[in-house]
Amino acid sequence: MTDNLVQAAYIIAAVLFVLSLAGLSKHESARQGNAFGIVGMVIALVATIWLAADRASNSGLTLFLILIAMAIGAGIGLWRARVVEMTGMPELVAMLHSFVGAAAVLVGYNSFNTADGLTGSEANIHLVEVYLGVFIGAVTFTGSVVAFLKLSARIPSKPLMLPHRHLLNLGALVVSALLLMWFMASESVFPLILMTLVALAFGYHLVASIGGGDMPVVVSMLNSYSGWAAAAAGFMLGNDLLIVTGALVGSSGAILSYIMCKAMNRSFFSVIAGGFGSDGSVSGEERDYGEHRETTAEDVADLLKQAKSVVITPGYGMAVAQAQYPVADLTSRLRKLGVDVRFGIHPVAGRLPGHMNVLLAEAKVPYDIVLEMDEVNDDFPDTDVVLVIGANDTVNPSATDEPGSPIAGMPVLKVWEARNVVVFKRSMATGYAGVQNPLFFKDNSQMLFGDAKERVEDMLKSL
Ligand code: TAP
Repeated sequence: MTDNLVQAAYIIAAVLFVLSLAGLSKHESARQGNAFGIVGMVIALVATIWLAADRASNSGLTLFLILIAMAIGAGIGLWRARVVEMTGMPELVAMLHSFVGAAAVLVGYNSFNTADGLTGSEANIHLVEVYLGVFIGAVTFTGSVVAFLKLSARIPSKPLMLPHRHLLNLGALVVSALLLMWFMASESVFPLILMTLVALAFGYHLVASIGGGDMPVVVSMLNSYSGWAAAAAGFMLGNDLLIVTGALVGSSGAILSYIMCKAMNRSFFSVIAGGFGSDGSVSGEERDYGEHRETTAEDVADLLKQAKSVVITPGYGMAVAQAQYPVADLTSRLRKLGVDVRFGIHPVAGRLPGHMNVLLAEAKVPYDIVLEMDEVNDDFPDTDVVLVIGANDTVNPSATDEPGSPIAGMPVLKVWEARNVVVFKRSMATGYAGVQNPLFFKDNSQMLFGDAKERVEDMLKSL
């Protein structure tokens, strides 16, 4: 009876998760999508706890221990969710992915130790499940820890360039395959432990060898890996909902990685294999691009008053400065003056997929003037003024002009084709990829130095 009810609850939760993903794919339905996800997760948790208590010899104690563990986890989770800055989200997500990986490893070892009584093909299938679960979990764990360290700038985001790095990755896979054979034949824990060490090193190397500008793809790739790790844990625990949920996360993460790869002009395979990105060639930093010009908020306000068309391209700096609110005010002000204002959003602007869209939606900028890079990129030659608010790598012409640049090949917003470009940032420092930006030195570019929020507020006053 309990089993049937739990299975029914799992089916409902799985449908809600699918609806949640469908909802999250559009701005307009994102809130509803989140609500579906929350309800689905509550149903899944209640059903799983009920099942665990029902199966335990001492239901009361089991329930008590689960609730204690949940209270501690929920307490830490709520605290982190409340204090995390929007700009700190990617590293938090990376850290959470590492927990999924670690959990899959622990579930794997536990499942190996407690699976007595299985024989024949059942036992073999179980061993393969354990092995794959631990492998994917260990790769996800160290990969995510390195991503966390890189994203939070605790270690440099520069790619680790070991000699023969592709051979090293291939070697790790071959050794893991051989250890699987040993594991199946001996059913001993030693090959499992050895493989875990290899997989931990493999995960570390996969992410360590990826360059700064390519980190967005890594985040979505680890998201996908964490889904597969959860699905593997679902197989080991015989939990259908965990398999479905893991597969949903794994495949949606893989689709997102694919979209990101296309946006960044990278090959999907090289991402999965790790070790793409900079080859350490000329970064452009040493080049002399000439002098830059500075401007003031008052002059930019005058420029805007005369403009007919304005495109705003926000980036990570807008998030740091929390400039989205004055930017939204500026937009409505200019629209009232009859200026055609639109936003051009690069797919990897900011530090997480959809970062800029979330900020602009938060500040109530109308969705219909927020355009994707491909929708706006041909319009720059007819644009009077582009306001680059805290963006850098995503508007860097060296991606198209300098084949040796670490960001070469990455599609960028061609803002320099507009009549006037105003760049809001605090200094001449490079962006996330550490590459100097020739845009700042172009004849039609002017720098407006200072915190983006303060400068936009100054402009509002002048307007
Ligand atoms: P970035 O290249 O990161 O540049 C942001 C610029 O904002 C910096 O040059 C900085 O210059 C400026 N800035 C910082 N704080 C500011 C403030 N308070 N006021 C004004 N300006 C400020 O930005 P982007 O164009 O958005 O590119 C994103 C980069 O992050 C890409 O390389 C991308 O690959 C990478 N990345 C993206 C993601 C995702 S999924 N979106 C994830 C990880 C990494 P100053 O210091 O001079 O002010």
